[in-house]
Amino acid sequence: MLTDPFGRAIDYVRLSVTDRCDLRCSYCMPEDFKGFEEPAQWLDFDETARLIGVFARLGVKRVRMTGGEPLLRRNLPQLAARLSALPGVEDLSLSTNATQLARHAQALKDAGVSRLNVSLDSLQRERVEKINGRDVFDRIMAGLNAARDVGFTRIKLNMVALAGVNDDEIDAMVEFAMAGNYTLRLIETMPMGDTGRASAFLDLQPVKARLAQKYGLVETALPGGGPARYLGTPDGRFNIGFITPLSQHFCETCNRVRVSVDGTLYLCLGQDDKVELRPLLRAGASDAEIEQAILDAVARKPARHEFREAPAKLVRFMSMTGG
Ligand code: 5AD
Ligand code: SF4
Repeated sequence: MLTDPFGRAIDYVRLSVTDRCDLRCSYCMPEDFKGFEEPAQWLDFDETARLIGVFARLGVKRVRMTGGEPLLRRNLPQLAARLSALPGVEDLSLSTNATQLARHAQALKDAGVSRLNVSLDSLQRERVEKINGRDVFDRIMAGLNAARDVGFTRIKLNMVALAGVNDDEIDAMVEFAMAGNYTLRLIETMPMGDTGRASAFLDLQPVKARLAQKYGLVETALPGGGPARYLGTPDGRFNIGFITPLSQHFCETCNRVRVSVDGTLYLCLGQDDKVELRPLLRAGASDAEIEQAILDAVARKPARHEFREAPAKLVRFMSMTGG
């Protein structure tokens, strides 16, 4: 079992399968970003499957593929099939911007991907272009529809709430999610990189109170143990999550670590603490040695992020370690 010094059991790995992205969301990646990893440094599928296999033997049960945009990684469904087949991996999920989801939905389903999170910051085409940097609204909608057609249910829509940018659309998004059977999650912007710091932070606590009132929502506990705090309709048919790293942090129940495309293990989204596992993998280390490196790293997992106290701290962009 992977347990950190604060008694938190780590059973979830967020695996970034690429740091590239076809979008340039204003809060994430700068338009002219050039600091991408060289392909030679990317873990290949054998290395990735081996590493996740080691995590699974240490008690990791859930794996999420993130990016950048994971669907830019060539043959991602092939990797997904290998990961979902690993003993101990009970749940394989994917976070995507959905621009290429229509093409890949069936293959992902066939590969054993159980759940999808889709980024959607606006329901207005021009706004999507403005916030996300490309005119992709129609493609996102096509992706969502394709995902539903191949049988993905309870898809989560992730909306980064930006003051003065899309906060006037929160109610419209709630209604869109209700009508389409999506779980909506509103996310506070995190000060990661210049882009994250420059984005217009919106405190979601007042939004949460207002939505509870307007739609008659009650506190709901959803399984999964993630950072979102949920409200839902009393009949359980609609849920909305609030991911509030700034206004109410959730580090005391953190259950995860992150692996970037180059095989670096990051112990916290908001801290620099990391261990490079690629050199071990490429130097012929045994599984036991990799296991020990992971155990040593988790023993140094920081207590919490400091997005509020030290917002200037993190120069890394979200796209480098996955949202
Ligand atoms: N703050 C909060 N979330 C972010 N994401 C990227 N950058 C940020 C940021 N600065 C998350 C969003 C997006 C996902 C891909 O990464 O949830 O939907
Ligand atoms: Fe790409 Fe996601 Fe970053 Fe947007 S937030 S630029 S979709 S990695």
